[in-house]
Order: sequence, then C-alpha cells, then structure tokens
Amino acid sequence: MSDERLAIEGGPKAAPQLGPFPTKIGREELWEILEMWELEPGKKEQIQAILFDDAELRGPHLFRYYNPKPSRVAAAEQAMGELIGTKHCLATNSCTSALVAAYRALGVGMGDEVIVPAYTFFATAATVAACNAIPVIVDVDDSLCLDPDAVAKAITKRTKAIAPVHMRGIPAQMDAIMEVANKKGIPVVEDAAQSGGGSFRGKRLGSIGALGCFSFDYYKVLVSGEGGFVTTDDEWLYTRAQSWHDTAACWRPDRYAHERREGELFCGENYRMSELEGAVAVAQIRKCESILSGYRRAKARIKQAIEPRDGLCFRRIPDEAGDTAVCLVMFLPTPGLTKQALEAMKAEGVPVGGVYDSTVRDWHVYTYWDHILEKKSVAGDGLPWSGVPAGEVPNYARDMCPRTLDFLSRALMLDINRNYSDADCDAIARGINKVLRALLK
Ligand SMILES: Cc1ncc(COP(=O)(O)O)c(C=O)c1O
Repeated sequence: MSDERLAIEGGPKAAPQLGPFPTKIGREELWEILEMWELEPGKKEQIQAILFDDAELRGPHLFRYYNPKPSRVAAAEQAMGELIGTKHCLATNSCTSALVAAYRALGVGMGDEVIVPAYTFFATAATVAACNAIPVIVDVDDSLCLDPDAVAKAITKRTKAIAPVHMRGIPAQMDAIMEVANKKGIPVVEDAAQSGGGSFRGKRLGSIGALGCFSFDYYKVLVSGEGGFVTTDDEWLYTRAQSWHDTAACWRPDRYAHERREGELFCGENYRMSELEGAVAVAQIRKCESILSGYRRAKARIKQAIEPRDGLCFRRIPDEAGDTAVCLVMFLPTPGLTKQALEAMKAEGVPVGGVYDSTVRDWHVYTYWDHILEKKSVAGDGLPWSGVPAGEVPNYARDMCPRTLDFLSRALMLDINRNYSDADCDAIARGINKVLRALLK
C-alpha cells in the first residue's frame, strides 16, 4: 500500500529524482566550433570518432553566471586586469558597449557633453549620443590623436568626460590630456579599442584615465570575434559599469540586495560576454606580449629601411616604447602627392591605404558622421539635441576641424602584419622607397 502522507509531513517524495538530462549544448555544437579551425580530413575523422563515441559527453555552460566550472569570462577579466594593471576589469560584448557602460558609470546623460576626437571610429562619438549626451568633436594633432590644446578650448560647464582615443595602435598625449582634465576635475575615458597592450610612459593604456575601454573585435590587436573590456581602479565606477552591462545588476554578487548607496541601482542593458568569447579572449590576452613583439619587429624593420627624404615625415608618436606597432603612418607635403603615392605604392604591391579622401566614405573621419552632423534622433523626442538649450547645441560643420583634415589628407597608412617575414618587410620598404624616390625629388 502506497504511503500517501505528504512529503512536507514526512512522507516519501513523489518525484525523488528527475533526470539525468543531456546538457543544452553537446557534441554537435562543439563540432561546429571545431569546423572553424579548418581541420585536415584525417584529423577531422579522428576527432569526430572521439566526440561521437563518448556517450557521456557533457556540454559547456556558456552563461558565465551559471557555469558550474570556473568561468572563462571571469578568467579573461582577471587576465586583462592584470595585463592593464587596474584593480577592476569588466568583460562586455564589444567596445561600443564598454564605452556606453563607462560613460553611464560616470553618470553621462541628457544635457552633458563629452569631448571626442574628429578622427576615431564613429563608435566613440555615437555612444555619447546613445547616452543622450552631446559629442563635442575636436581636432587631432600630428599624432592623429586628440590635441590637448583643442580639448582645453572645448571644455564648457557641461563637459562630463573627455574621451581620448589611442588611434591606430599608438598612445595619445596622455600627460597633457590628463593635466587639462585634472585641472577642471573632468574624468577621462580612454578609448583603447585599437591599442590593446600599448602604454604611455610605462603605464598601460586603459589604466591612466578614470576608465579604459577595449575592443576584441575581429580587427583589433587582441581578438575574440566580438568582445570588449572596461578597466578601472575605481570600485564605484566598476560597480556602476557592471550594473549597466547587466540589465539592472541582475548578477551582482549579492543579487537581490537593496541599494547600498544612492546611484547603485538603475535600469541598464545587457552587454554580457559569453563563455565562448571569454575562452578565446583569455588565450589571446596570455599571448599579448608575443603578439606585440611580432608587430614591433615587423614595423621596426620596415621603418628603418625607409630612406629619409625631404617632404617625408612620420606620424609623431607620444611614446615610442608604448606603440603597439600595428600601423605605420607617413605624411607627405600635399594631398595631391599623397594620392599619387598611394596609387603608385599599391601598384608596387605595398598594402598601403590613404586615411582621408573626400570622395571615399570612412567611418573614422568626422565628416562622414551624418548622424551627428545632421543631428539625427532615434525617437520623436529629438534627443540628445533637445536635451540642451538650442543656443548651446554645437554648430557642427564638415569643415570644422581643418587641422584634422589636413593631416588625414596627407597621410599614408600601412597596416602591419605581425607575420611578415623579413623578406616581406624588405619588399614593402623597397616599394615605398621606389615610389618616394620618384615623387619627392
Ligand atoms: C576607436 C574605436 N572605438 C570603439 C570601437 C568599437 O569597437 P567594437 O567593434 O568592439 O564595438 C572601435 C572599433 O572599430 C574603434 O576602433
């Protein structure tokens, strides 16, 4: 006779054990990942045999906060924090989201201004507008990074943050920028998307301002397909960035605690990194020094072999030792000569690009940021532009940063491949010398 006593009153459980169930992710998903490695047919079959023979194979948990094993995203955060040298590090799903989380951590919102350079990937400025604040666009100098003097002139009572970008692998002039910012008590958000692992005077980029933001997208120094990080020494800023990146602090350590301090809880978004990206990112971070030494070897060899010549100069690098060396930029005297050199070098097989040509759209140059220049808004509320008195909205114009356009229209940009052999480097330098010898007589 069955015991009908309720379990809650000491009777037997009706459902003592459910399962076991297979994990949500199994061998098919792992196989799809392995397919990305382009394995040789023989090796493919060997791995397939191991995978499909193993009836017990348990898939991973790709959500960091549920993973019963040590989280790869947490490991990536730890490794990145150690690399950059900050007390806190938050993984995000991109640098775009890292920038929003950083600006939001600082309280950037309607009516505020953030100073950004006229030459940067559009995201540095677009994220300001996405926070309902006004991007104030200022000139870069001959380093192609934010000009500290232009920053000083652009500060107003509304300036909530300054966002220097370490452009194309090199550090911005961080001593002068920090001096201007500190004088006014304005926090700095370093956009280090393009310069992961670089440094300025011995300090890693992303550890100098109040917050640093990194990209691990496909094009960057360190990559995980998509991904990003926010770095900071400030626990409060970290707490707020974590909350913003996690809807509303859903997964903070004491999840359901009431607000412990005014400003701790608010409605955010979901920018969480998945365990797959975390696993790739942690491996990349560990390889950072060897990746950088590959770029530095190749760039130094090419640069040394370029013959000095009147009319040729290199981009100023505020701290050569901190250059990630992913890019070599040369300036010629006129836009016309630069265009000629560009075409001639390409014909020689030198993989050089021009930075600015008014006929070629490029999201890195402010003149093409129609969304900002034309003051577009996603909704009928007219934000961010309606958030400040009409007379205080910047008068954007396509010619408002003439120094930036002058530098960019005379720049030749060589992206460095860290796998170039010495022979590749020498061939590239030969092509550059051949063309400049002919053009700069
Ligand atoms: C300077 C800069 N900031 C931000 C971003 C945005 O990075 P993500 O693609 O990770 O959102 C990029 C990407 O190209 C960038 O170059």
